[in-house]
Amino acid sequence: MIRLPLNVALVYNQKKEDNKTENNHEPPDKDKNILSGLNGESSVRFNHSTPNNFADTYAEWDTFETINAVREALSEFHKVTLVEADENAYQKLLQLKPDIVFNIAEGLNGVSREAQIPAILELLQIPYTGSDPLTLSICLDKARTKEILSYYGIPTARFCVINSISDIVGANIVFPSIVKPKHEGSSKGIFNSSIVNNWDDLISQVTFVIETYKQPALVEEFLDGREFTVALLGNGKDVKVLPIVEMKFDSLPSEVNRIYSYEAKWIWDNSESPLNIFECPANLPISLQTEIEDICLKTYSVMKCRDWCRIDVRLDSNGVPNILELNPLPGILPKPEDNSCFPKAARTAGMNYNQLLQEVLNLAAKRYGLL
Ligand SMILES: Nc1ncnc2c1ncn2[C@@H]1O[C@H](COP(=O)(O)OP(=O)(O)OP(=O)(O)O)[C@@H](O)[C@H]1O
Ligand SMILES: [Mg+2]
Repeated sequence: MIRLPLNVALVYNQKKEDNKTENNHEPPDKDKNILSGLNGESSVRFNHSTPNNFADTYAEWDTFETINAVREALSEFHKVTLVEADENAYQKLLQLKPDIVFNIAEGLNGVSREAQIPAILELLQIPYTGSDPLTLSICLDKARTKEILSYYGIPTARFCVINSISDIVGANIVFPSIVKPKHEGSSKGIFNSSIVNNWDDLISQVTFVIETYKQPALVEEFLDGREFTVALLGNGKDVKVLPIVEMKFDSLPSEVNRIYSYEAKWIWDNSESPLNIFECPANLPISLQTEIEDICLKTYSVMKCRDWCRIDVRLDSNGVPNILELNPLPGILPKPEDNSCFPKAARTAGMNYNQLLQEVLNLAAKRYGLL
């Protein structure tokens, strides 16, 4: 029987501060003129200057500010040790033998990168927060996730996977489509030009994804309805759906596509000048709210998520909610003006940032019988 406080290891990957100079990816040419505002001046946020390279290699990793905020939240009740999820993580965890790990490590290498720390923890029999390696790996394969959802009759946009450009011949594509990397998050590889309306643009965008991200391109039917993101917390029969967040694309310039692109997420929306893009709780008729909650609960269960997950949903042209993708390691930027959706939904539910993280730890600790 373990007694409080728990010895918690917070396992993380920290964003490299100098990542603007390493492994930068060039955006597609026609997106360069809308990738503006890198200097943070609101007056030029939507101007047409050509920016420097953008750096998205570490977009999924956390800043020191976030890691420290999580550490402080957990330290209110527990003894917290920071462990960087690098090549030495196995040895460090072996020596430390924490009671439990709070896992926010995104990993770097390969399509199972989010599963690597949880797999090590399973080997060492150390309890940890969040989903297991299988769920984390599958959710990072957006196509495999959609195959599973389809098997269970959960609506998701029609799609095809293009492994190499020659696969395009004979592919069953409808326009407009959206082209995305198959294994990324944090809007990596999703730009204004990711929406394609003809074969030429499709070929150029698929080529960009395959060459830049060294992975297959996922081509999905473009869903033109409202978009929501839904935070879920809990396990088994006690999973709670937090207030639904809607992305209101009216705050984007009229000439850009209505999607939550890399530009929208990381460039036009910044803490100095937040984009007024979210509404929480979303203004929904009760029937649609229930429909969205039900499809998200079913998705959470089918994908065997644990403790927490953020699920993206978009309506199709008939107003039917479709699952876009799951984020079992959701973004958790601490400041309200950072517009991170899970903490935003929690705040609307009356739970502050620290309480949210403490609840995630408690949910995991209960699963393992530690509390
Ligand atoms: N099939 C689709 N139809 C319409 N819009 C889409 C579709 N797929 C993606 N989008 C748009 O692109 C955005 C990013 O897509 P997606 O959620 O798959 O990427 P991500 O990088 O995994 O996101 P996150 O930042 O949540 O990790 C969505 O929020 C949505 O605005
Ligand atoms: Mg998403």
